[in-house]
Amino acid sequence: MFIANWKMNGSLTMLEEWLKGVGKTLNKSLQKQCLLCPPVCFLSEASNLISKLNLSISLGAQNIDPSSISSLTGGIDGSMLRSIGSEFVIIGHSERRDIFKEGDSLLLEKLKSASEEGLKVVFCIGESLSEKEQNQTLNILRQQLKIIKKVELNEFMIAYEPVWAIGTGNTANIDYIDKIHKEIIDEVTSYQKEGFLGICYGGSVDSSISKDILSIKGVQGLLIGGASLECEEFCNIVLTNNRN
Ligand code: PGA
Repeated sequence: MFIANWKMNGSLTMLEEWLKGVGKTLNKSLQKQCLLCPPVCFLSEASNLISKLNLSISLGAQNIDPSSISSLTGGIDGSMLRSIGSEFVIIGHSERRDIFKEGDSLLLEKLKSASEEGLKVVFCIGESLSEKEQNQTLNILRQQLKIIKKVELNEFMIAYEPVWAIGTGNTANIDYIDKIHKEIIDEVTSYQKEGFLGICYGGSVDSSISKDILSIKGVQGLLIGGASLECEEFCNIVLTNNRN
């Protein structure tokens, strides 16, 4: 799966151009491998455009608020996300863990909220540079993964995104990604969760490196931030990985 994480970028004009570009460049079977996660304010229009343009791309939200909080100004829960066309939701992105101090107890509530509404989850994990330098990567990742055990999820993917690789141009090297993905697969497989769809990699992915990353056995998808904003570059990533 190719996940376009637009973060806090985009406009209605860009959305329309981007989706039209995807429709022109990718055939239906390639579109089915794509998931667009625009800012939440564009989800509804994205859903309308996908129907109007007869596209097969899926939609996801970048965040969810727990339905267990009864009064939350600015909150958007899972049923609201569903009602505007979201099938997936990203939970645990390092930017939210870091800037909004989202910790395990809040993330658990978010996972429960997604699960109650039947949303599919992209759960992000990743170590910081200092954790990597202190050889703490595997401990940190196992710690972050543990809350998955506590909730009945529908279908879910793990997105491994080393924090030091996000938005920096420093993609992790192939051997490192391979090693870490194997560890994550072993860990999540031991939880015996039926809906586990696999692991995707994220962090400064673009079309120059995507094929090498996807050729690693344990990598089932890519979570693409900056490079997903340009429709042509995003489509190049999808096309490059579907050529023999
Ligand atoms: P990036 O972002 O591709 O711009 O590094 C990835 C992400 O944070 O999801």
